[in-house]
Amino acid sequence: MKKYKVGVIGGTGMVGQRFVTLMQGHPWFQLAAIAASPRSAGKRYEDAVAGRWAMDTPIPDEAKDMVLLSAQDDVARIASMVDFIFSAVDMKKEEIQALEEAYARHECPVVSNNSAHRWTPDVPMVIPEVNPEHIQVIEAQRKRLGTRRGFIAVKSNCSIQSYVPALSPLRQFGIEKILVCTYQAISGAGKTFETWPEMVDNLIPYIGGEEEKSEQEPLKVWGRVENGIIVNDDPPAITAQCLRVPVSNGHTAAAFVSFKNKPTMDQMKQAWEKFKGRPQELNLPTAPQQFLHYFEQPDRPQAKLDRDLEGGMAVSIGRLRPDTQYDYKFVSLSHNTLRGAAGGAVLLAELLCAEGYIEPRA
Ligand SMILES: NC(=O)c1ccc[n+]([C@@H]2O[C@H](COP(=O)([O-])OP(=O)(O)OC[C@H]3O[C@@H](n4cnc5c(N)ncnc54)[C@H](OP(=O)(O)O)[C@@H]3O)[C@@H](O)[C@H]2O)c1
Repeated sequence: MKKYKVGVIGGTGMVGQRFVTLMQGHPWFQLAAIAASPRSAGKRYEDAVAGRWAMDTPIPDEAKDMVLLSAQDDVARIASMVDFIFSAVDMKKEEIQALEEAYARHECPVVSNNSAHRWTPDVPMVIPEVNPEHIQVIEAQRKRLGTRRGFIAVKSNCSIQSYVPALSPLRQFGIEKILVCTYQAISGAGKTFETWPEMVDNLIPYIGGEEEKSEQEPLKVWGRVENGIIVNDDPPAITAQCLRVPVSNGHTAAAFVSFKNKPTMDQMKQAWEKFKGRPQELNLPTAPQQFLHYFEQPDRPQAKLDRDLEGGMAVSIGRLRPDTQYDYKFVSLSHNTLRGAAGGAVLLAELLCAEGYIEPRA
């Protein structure tokens, strides 16, 4: 099979390093270009990430000697070298919007980890198992941009990927309201304990902008396609508190939920066990075989034990029990830089390729 040539912009950062690592040995994708800020452009990748390589595995050999390009100054060049790019740049929102649109207009599809375009109505925000049908809006987006190949697709915020997957198969019971507290790992801020020693033995009850994203993004993910845009789901009402905790990787959510048609706990567990999405149907390379795992043990899921389940792409659920204010409460966990960031974007790119939205250039 001919491999898709892939570029990573923001390839030196925490999420970018994950993208570079996930391209190693990928059956469909081949790393062809890495770009970052002008500070890194012109350096060998290995030199540019020296002292800040944050992955557990070594820098992939195929990346070490690649000479970094400038994500902003080399748009046309990068667009001509690759079949699509992953975007993981950390810049101002308007700058990211303009940069990603520039790649799309150069006929280079963009699969983005960034939040900048999440609320652009014709940009799909996709959790591949939950709302794969949203990629249909790409046709309308291409018309707006005047492109043939180019478009932007994004993944949702990492925090919601710890509880939206667990809630999605329960929507058949009519979810009325949700309360969620998230306990978020330091890698979500692009940090390690070395670069953020203040987080050792600490908890910070504030993550800028995160609570708004956690309350609003599920409504777009659960929305519907109408006339070339995504229209948000109306209920349920969601309220969220997001805390930063001293965990390297893995966002945990404590969720409370009430229903219009209250299911039994067995029905909920069955809904989780049976839940399969388009990635499983298509047997995509990065798809977990079983997306949602329910643990009966009372002290699971745990970040350290369970975040790497199925390559960090599965979501772990536990502690389902009745609540005194809501119908039920439970705990769920997902790996924030894998399922919640680069891994989720790789799975989205695989979906876009399998469904014919990204094709290798002739
Ligand atoms: N970490 C997570 O779990 C997570 C999850 C979801 C979303 N995100 C989002 O993903 C993005 C990247 O996050 P991160 O944690 O990987 O950040 P990071 O570690 O700070 O990396 C930022 C990347 O952006 C590049 N960059 C900065 N300024 C640039 C410029 N002017 N032009 C081109 N490239 C520039 C950096 O290049 P240099 O090395 O050359 O400076 C680096 O490659 C952010 O928007 C973040 O909000 C992160």
